[in-house]
Amino acid sequence: MNINITLSQNDLSSIKEKEKMKEKVEKAYSTLLNKNGLGNDFLGWIDLPINISEKEILDIENTAKMIRKQAEIFVVIGIGGSYLGARAVIESLKNNFDYINKKDSCPIVVYAGNTMSEDYLSDLIEMLDKKDYCLTVISKSGTTTEPAISFRIIREHLEKKYGKQQAKQRIIAITDKEKGVLKELANEQGYKTFVVPDDIGGRYSVLTPVGLLPIAVAGFDIRKLILGAKQIREQLVNENHIDKNIALQYVLARNLLYKRKKSVELLVNYQPNLVYISEWWKQLFGESEGKEGKGLFVASVSNTTDLHSMGQYVQEGSRIMFETVLHVNNSNKSIKIPMLENDNDKLNYLLKYSLTEINHKAEEATRLAHLEGDVSQIMITIDKVDEENIGQLLYFFEFACGVSGYTLGVNPFNQPGVENYKKKMFSLLGKK
Ligand code: PA5
Repeated sequence: MNINITLSQNDLSSIKEKEKMKEKVEKAYSTLLNKNGLGNDFLGWIDLPINISEKEILDIENTAKMIRKQAEIFVVIGIGGSYLGARAVIESLKNNFDYINKKDSCPIVVYAGNTMSEDYLSDLIEMLDKKDYCLTVISKSGTTTEPAISFRIIREHLEKKYGKQQAKQRIIAITDKEKGVLKELANEQGYKTFVVPDDIGGRYSVLTPVGLLPIAVAGFDIRKLILGAKQIREQLVNENHIDKNIALQYVLARNLLYKRKKSVELLVNYQPNLVYISEWWKQLFGESEGKEGKGLFVASVSNTTDLHSMGQYVQEGSRIMFETVLHVNNSNKSIKIPMLENDNDKLNYLLKYSLTEINHKAEEATRLAHLEGDVSQIMITIDKVDEENIGQLLYFFEFACGVSGYTLGVNPFNQPGVENYKKKMFSLLGKK
C-alpha cells in the first residue's frame, strides 16, 4: 500500500499550520497506542490481527464448512458494524454476477436486519421459500430493533420450513459473551454462538467472527485477510515517524484540509465491487468523527459511472470537498478489446491498452481535472483486490480513523448520536 497527496493551490497550508497539525497527529498516535485516550476500553481491534487465536479461526472455518454443506443461501442479519464489514469484503471479492451464475459450492450471502422495509423482507422470505438456507444473527448489544425484527420473522420461516429442532442447527448467533436478549435467546435455544469481544465496537469488528464467519461462508480465505491486516499493522504500529507512516500521512492531510474549510471527503473508487468498501468506510469515519459539531462529512462515488452524474458537481459545484481515491494497480482478470479491420466505431486507437490501463487513464485524467477545479487529491494505492490487500486496506482505515478522531479531539469509539433516533422511535411505537 502507499499514499500520494496532491493539494490544490488553494489548499496549501503554511509551514506553521503543518507543523502544528503534525504535532497533534503525533500526539493522537501516542494516545491511541498508549491507550490513554477517550474510549480506550474499545481498543481491542489494534492487536486483533496478532491476537486472534488459531482455535477461533478453526472454529469459524469449521462452522463455515458446515453451513456450506447445508445451504444455498446464507442470510446475514445485522446492521451498521454488524454487517458492513462482512459485506464490504464479500462484495469486493465475489464474482459480480454470482447471484445469477454461481459456480462453486459456496452459498450466496444475502442481508437482512439492515432495513425495516416490508417489501424487502417479503421478497427475501419469498426467495427463501425455494432455497435451502442457514442464517447468522449478529448484534453486539443483542437488542437492536432492525435485526431483532428480521430475526423473528426469518426464524419463524426457518422453523416452519425445517421444524424447530433442525432450524436450531441452521442458526448462528454472534453477540456479547454474556448479556443481551440475543444471548439469552441463544442460550435458551442452544444455538451455536460466537462472541463479539467486549473491547471491540461494531464498526471495528470486521476481523472478529462478525466479519469473518460470513466471509468464510462465502468461500474467501480469512487467514489471508488477517495476514494482510497483520502486515500493515506491523508498519503502522511500529513507525512513529510521520513521513514513513502512511496512516499518519493520511490523517495529517485530511485534517489539514478540514482546517482549510473543506468539510466533505469523497471516497472515490473505479470499480463497482468496491462500493461496499466505501459504505463500510463511511460508517467507520462518519460514526467515529461526526460528533460535538465536528468532523468531515464522508461521502463516496463510484467512477467512471458517477463521473456522468456527480462528476459535474465535483468539478464545478460548491468548493467544499477533497477526494480520497482508491487506486488498484492490477485487475484479477483480463478481457481484450477486439480489433476491427474497418474500425467503424473508431476505437482501434485503444488497442495498445488493456481495459485496466484505460480505466487508469480515466482516473488520472479525472484527478488532473478535479485538481484544476480546486479539489485536492489523496490517492491510496493497493496492488489488487484480494484477501490480503483488502485486509491491509481495512486495517489501514481503522487505524487512521482512531488517530484522526483523537486529532480532532473526539472519542472515535462511541456513537451517542445514534441513540437519539432510537429513543424517539421507541416512544412513537409505545415501547415500555
Ligand atoms: O459501529 C457500531 O457500533 C454500530 O454501527 C453498531 O454496529 C450497530 O448500531 C449495530 O449494533 P449491534 O451490533 O449492537 O446490533
